[in-house]
Amino acid sequence: MAVPLFLFLLLNAAAVPRAGAEGADPCAGRRIHIRGLPPRFNADLLRHCGADAFPLADASAAATSAPPCESLANHGLGPRTHQRSRSWYRTDARLLEPFFHRRIVERDCLTDDPAHADAVFVPYYAALDALPYVLDPALLDASARHGVELAEFLARDQPRILSRRQGHDHFLVVAGSAWDYAQPPGTEPRLWGTTSLLRLPELANFTFLTVESRMWPWQEHAIPHPTSFHPASLPHQRAWLARARRSRRGVLMLFAGGISRPSRPNIRGSILAECANRTDACVVVDCSGGKCSHDPGRYMRAMLRSKFCLQPPGDTPTRRSTFDAILAGCVPVFFEDLAARRQYGWHLPPARYDEFSVHIPKETVVFGGVRIAETLQSVPEAEVRRMRKRVLEMAPRVVYRRHGSTAELSGAGEDAVDLAVDGVLRRIRRRTRAQEEGRPERIYATEDDSVEM
Ligand SMILES: *[C@@H]1O[C@H](CO)[C@@H](O)[C@H](O)[C@H]1NC(C)=O
Ligand SMILES: *[C@@H]1O[C@H](CO)[C@@H](O)[C@H](O)[C@H]1NC(C)=O
Repeated sequence: MAVPLFLFLLLNAAAVPRAGAEGADPCAGRRIHIRGLPPRFNADLLRHCGADAFPLADASAAATSAPPCESLANHGLGPRTHQRSRSWYRTDARLLEPFFHRRIVERDCLTDDPAHADAVFVPYYAALDALPYVLDPALLDASARHGVELAEFLARDQPRILSRRQGHDHFLVVAGSAWDYAQPPGTEPRLWGTTSLLRLPELANFTFLTVESRMWPWQEHAIPHPTSFHPASLPHQRAWLARARRSRRGVLMLFAGGISRPSRPNIRGSILAECANRTDACVVVDCSGGKCSHDPGRYMRAMLRSKFCLQPPGDTPTRRSTFDAILAGCVPVFFEDLAARRQYGWHLPPARYDEFSVHIPKETVVFGGVRIAETLQSVPEAEVRRMRKRVLEMAPRVVYRRHGSTAELSGAGEDAVDLAVDGVLRRIRRRTRAQEEGRPERIYATEDDSVEM
């Protein structure tokens, strides 16, 4: 039998709607159909691993910057950091696609019948499939082809699934920044390192979940960067959060990231200069050259000892470190709203950023002479403690719980995957309602669908 037994059981269990207390249908509005795809769009991408293979590479090919083969372990969470570690993994963010797929397969309220689905999940491993185009110079000129085969397949195979709602009910995950998939298809010469997936007209109505989004009118929505913490049970999650709450914090502020000084003045440069001066108040964790990517111990211990974690933009505005800091109870310091507030509205309520983070506009630091350490030192200790409490209350919402985690943990509130799926269902419902009501102008309305808490 081709379908692994666990998948088979899950799919069958999920296909049966369970009756609620009053006979209400608990799956109403929440049914997801997982689109069947040929393995070349997902499973095959995980099969090859070696020096010249894509998308995964063995250690000898580290220079290609492809994810190491071992990242595949645990459905994409990667290997555990140590043999005895229970919740910490060497997670490569680019494996979020197979992991998300696995979590969707575990959900209640799946349906085999697309005609009954409220949303259609397309289990395409988009960022992994893009790696040859962005890493292999020989394919540079072909990078506008990324995703074309998928679009052709969806249009050809059971075309009714796609046409039923003109694609508005389809969604998929792209484990990267939307900017890396948004090169205009006609660009000549092709720009290095990015593809045009998000510009394919055939996919224009899909919702893409990316770890960083562009602002409206684009169709993607941001979901948290995955960290290395993936608890499988409520006690494990609680134990970590308690440790973060109790941790003694003798360091005022921490920056974990690349440490090469930029040539032009920018916020990163200002932070590095200030930290060089203020070794009494600032710790820098050197993460240059990907040193931290698969090694959470490098920075988590330091974050546990720090009150504030600085989150300057890099090549793009968001960073994984924001979510590491939230988990460590290290109050994030943002220098622009694009870094998080205008990205993760389904996970972190935008109206409450003042309660769990500090905002220092980057211009005031780079050109206005504002000193970050002085600004943070002036926050009263009681206020710092309040912010830390709030940030740790938010932490479970950005955690990617381990697959197969205990039901008890699911009862503890929604994690990053649950909230992403809720958000996507809300968005799709609004769009399909607009279609049904014959008000297409509403499909693209700039409605703010952020959470309030
Ligand atoms: C996207 O949606 C709009 C409005 O429903 C529709 O006119 C258009 O044909 C759709 N595009 C595709 C590629 O299906
Ligand atoms: C670092 O210290 C020097 C000497 O005290 C001072 O001139 C400079 O402005 C300081 N730079 C920053 C970024 O704090």
